Amino acid sequence: MLDQPPATPARAAITAVSSYVPERVLTNADLSQRLDTSDEWIFTRTGIRERRIGAPGETTSMMGAEAVRRLMGRRGLGADEVDAIIVATVTPDMLFPATACLIQDQLTLSRAWGFDLSAACSGFLYGLTVGAQLVASGSHERVVVVGADLMSSIIDPLDRTTAVLFGDGAGAALLERAESGYGILDFHHRVDGSGRNDLMMPAGGSLLPPSMATVAARQHFLKQNGRAVFKFAVTNMVESVQVLLERNGLAASDLAMVIPHQANQRILDATAQRLGLPCERVATVLAAYGNTTGATLPLALDDVVRNGRIARGDLVMFTAVGAGLTSGATLVRWQ
Ligand code: UT7
Repeated sequence: MLDQPPATPARAAITAVSSYVPERVLTNADLSQRLDTSDEWIFTRTGIRERRIGAPGETTSMMGAEAVRRLMGRRGLGADEVDAIIVATVTPDMLFPATACLIQDQLTLSRAWGFDLSAACSGFLYGLTVGAQLVASGSHERVVVVGADLMSSIIDPLDRTTAVLFGDGAGAALLERAESGYGILDFHHRVDGSGRNDLMMPAGGSLLPPSMATVAARQHFLKQNGRAVFKFAVTNMVESVQVLLERNGLAASDLAMVIPHQANQRILDATAQRLGLPCERVATVLAAYGNTTGATLPLALDDVVRNGRIARGDLVMFTAVGAGLTSGATLVRWQ
């Protein structure tokens, strides 16, 4: 415990990042062999060329554990040096126990507690916020936030409106106490449950427990009202970013990089245009991975970091939208 409050508020910083995607590649050409679709339609409407699909038997916890293993390797952390693990996912290995417990076991993280967080594509963003509070409070030294989704486990292979969009993957970030002036500076999150039916999986929960009827009605697959979510995505990502810019006395031109949720290149282009940002300052990994839900932000961040596209001191804005409908943004001074 601190004797007196610090002169500047304690903050958390992302001190390492990692990602993992399965080896198997599913191309637009592969999909057009079994669905009434084409590479041309998929690429021009979404910006996606291919996505990764888990191997038979591969699960969300296995992908998440691999991402955390890589993260710990990068930072040289031992199994007793992680205090908590937060897993953002909508495709847990099972409803319970939480994926966080399965990852803790696979990596024998001897001191870590943890839990899963359900906020769909905004999950990693929300996980960063929760994890950052644990670190900033001084009660936790190292918190690992994982975004992992095996979307192929809940995608209807016969539904061309969703089957072409999603892929599998995982990413992880390590949160530790930030150096003064660096780290996670601010966040703005919102949920609008009135849009709950625009993106959802109808059955498998307490509303519609699994039955022969729910399986026959294909209710254990993701359903999406694409146009409604598209509109919500552009409006709310732009608005969340603007709230943070205004509150922190910044202009969009002060941002070195915006790292948005990866669902559709047209959403990213419209967001960049409304913010008045050149496309080079908006991270995109859509073409290679599609929409990996909770994994998209750490996958994109890992790509940006590995390619040296952000440097110490840069202002980086994360923003996301997802089922819920959830939305938000987080402002970081990169350490
Ligand atoms: O991660 C969470 C957030 N999710 C999102 O942000 C997703 C947001 N939504 C989107 O990205 C887009 O709405 C989609 C990519 C899902 C769909 O693109 P769209 O431009 O909104 O297409 P649409 O739904 O308006 O459909 C246009 C046409 C329809 O045919 P008709 O009714 O005009 O004859 C669809 O049946 O395209 C048809 N279509 C397809 N055609 C070929 C829908 N999917 C396909 C397909 N291949 N895969």
